Amino acid sequence: MSTDTQKPIVEMRHVKKAFGYVRALEDMNFSAYAGEVTAIVGDNGSGKSTLIKILTGCIKPDAGEIWIKGKCFFSLTVKQSMKEGVTAVYQDLALDNCKDCAGNIFLGRELMKYGILLDHVQMRRKTEELLRSLHISIPDITQPVEKMSGGQRQALAIARAVYAGGDIFIFDEPTSAMGMKETARIMKLFMELKKEGKTIILISHNLFQVFDISDRICVIHNGRFVDSFLTKDSSPQKLHKLIVEKEEELSDEKMAW
Ligand SMILES: Nc1ncnc2c1ncn2[C@@H]1O[C@H](COP(=O)(O)OP(=O)(O)O)[C@@H](O)[C@H]1O
Ligand SMILES: [Mg+2]
Repeated sequence: MSTDTQKPIVEMRHVKKAFGYVRALEDMNFSAYAGEVTAIVGDNGSGKSTLIKILTGCIKPDAGEIWIKGKCFFSLTVKQSMKEGVTAVYQDLALDNCKDCAGNIFLGRELMKYGILLDHVQMRRKTEELLRSLHISIPDITQPVEKMSGGQRQALAIARAVYAGGDIFIFDEPTSAMGMKETARIMKLFMELKKEGKTIILISHNLFQVFDISDRICVIHNGRFVDSFLTKDSSPQKLHKLIVEKEEELSDEKMAW
């Protein structure tokens, strides 16, 4: 449960990243704790996805420190990040659209038979079991992912992450294309992961979802850390006010310039 005396599992300190002239992250701090859901909230383009891609090793930061379970990194490779238990569902999902559900769940770790042949039957059976256990409903799991709805694709990407395992899960806008019922199921799944002591990092635009599920909120604006607090000490109205104030500060700065 949330306490402020707990040590963070993930801590990112003074992280910076520029893409050419675009300063995606200027001075970002972030912490996440075991057995908690930490939400990252900020407008479009504020650097949320860049931050988590630095944690998963997809992007190399220009400066700053990344601490995972007490180990310090200046940058990570994807392999190192996975070794530390980090698993992510990216905003763009990174599914292979030509493959079916099983093809995606087992992408890069296909099950074989006789050591040389792909074991399609086993992969399909295990995929069915996995989806059932996560209460994810995909009527035809044999169709290629490109024929599935946005919500079904998101659910599949989440199932793949859960199957991959790890103890630090990152979900970047994981339910943006889902209906209410599907979203509720996924939120329940996140709560189960949390109860198992996993660290959940959730990026979401849906403030009500954030307040419903998170223990802690980290606010980012224009690549900079704004504030971090326990969810129970805030409200959607307070958070909305904070974001709007930051936006006004920024436009004042631009006008002055
Ligand atoms: N690979 C990239 N190349 C160039 N600019 C990028 C790249 N990735 C992100 N950016 C820019 O960095 C800023 C932050 O982007 P992003 O982290 O995706 O924000 P968010 O996820 O909060 O919407 C944006 O201005 C975006 O256009
Ligand atoms: Mg993003």
